Amino acid sequence: MDHPELKILMVCLGNICRSPTAEAVFRLKAEQTDLPLRFQVDSAGTGDWHVGNPPDNRAVQMAALRHYDLSPLRARQVKVEDFTDFDYILAMDKANLTDLTNLCPEQYRHKVSLLLSHSNSPYVEVPDPYHSGTEGFELVLDLVEEACEALLDKIGGAHGISSRS
Ligand code: 4NP
Repeated sequence: MDHPELKILMVCLGNICRSPTAEAVFRLKAEQTDLPLRFQVDSAGTGDWHVGNPPDNRAVQMAALRHYDLSPLRARQVKVEDFTDFDYILAMDKANLTDLTNLCPEQYRHKVSLLLSHSNSPYVEVPDPYHSGTEGFELVLDLVEEACEALLDKIGGAHGISSRS
């Protein structure tokens, strides 16, 4: 029988920097675990300015240095069906969380959280790197990698299994 499937949605403002990075990082890290689960990973923005666009070139380049491929991804906006479709909806910052909470039907609010609330990082939010230099994109990768590993551990724990082989 197929393993059960969990659907993960990463959300930021523009869906061209942080959430596509988080999508690609989670996808690769999930492939590298031996959890008896299948993952479907996607990302979206609360804003619509970049719909249809590829990720920011700086995000693509910095992620590629760590072997994450953002190049096939295209931006889309969050839609209300996402709250029924996905199991975990993970906001990069508090503004994203507020926007998601306002859009989310009451019965699905438990699915929505800050990505970094699942990690042990002293950071609470993944800072928007759009107006920063490469160091901002490095920080996004550092925070997102740690949080995705922690989230996979937590999901494994919830299923009574370890995510590390
Ligand atoms: P993201 O970064 O939310 O991580 O994709 C941003 C990208 C574009 C804009 C803001 C944030 N923008 O205002 O166009």
